[in-house]
Amino acid sequence: MTGNYTLMMVKPDAVRNGNAEAIFQEIKKHGFEIVAQKKLQLSRAEAEAFYVVHKERPFYGELVDFMISGPIFAAVLKKENAVPEWRTLMGKTDPAEADEGTIRKMFATSKGENAVHGSDSNDNALNEIFFFFSSREIVAQSGIVQLNDIIGRQPE
Ligand code: CMP
Repeated sequence: MTGNYTLMMVKPDAVRNGNAEAIFQEIKKHGFEIVAQKKLQLSRAEAEAFYVVHKERPFYGELVDFMISGPIFAAVLKKENAVPEWRTLMGKTDPAEADEGTIRKMFATSKGENAVHGSDSNDNALNEIFFFFSSREIVAQSGIVQLNDIIGRQPE
């Protein structure tokens, strides 16, 4: 059902530092099911498109440069209320403000190099999931995730 899925990325800093595996362990420990996962390198055009909502922000160029500086992992997480649940486990954007026990508190080094990304709404989760994955790549323990489970209605 809609609301049960979110898109996460392990960013280049965390992959470079060898923290990707520990991050996925934390995710599983907190009851998320990883229903899709891939390691990839974003092109500049892809990173610009993914973060287009931040195009006018002063940090946009820096953000794009960072996101293409090395490989990342993208994954689809399944849990009830996945978007807020994952945002809570990630912690605040700035690791200096992140709570103890959050991924960013444990693995992020700055506001820019902050280890992980998470969708900020169900609508954005839908867009971000299909930015990285096709529907046949999203497979839960219970079987292939139907498109209408993620979009909350029958596809047109
Ligand atoms: P993310 O959740 O991936 O979404 C937008 C990203 O912009 C955010 O994480 C940060 O990594 C980055 N960001 C936000 N604020 C700043 C900032 N002041 N300087 C550099 N990067 C930032």
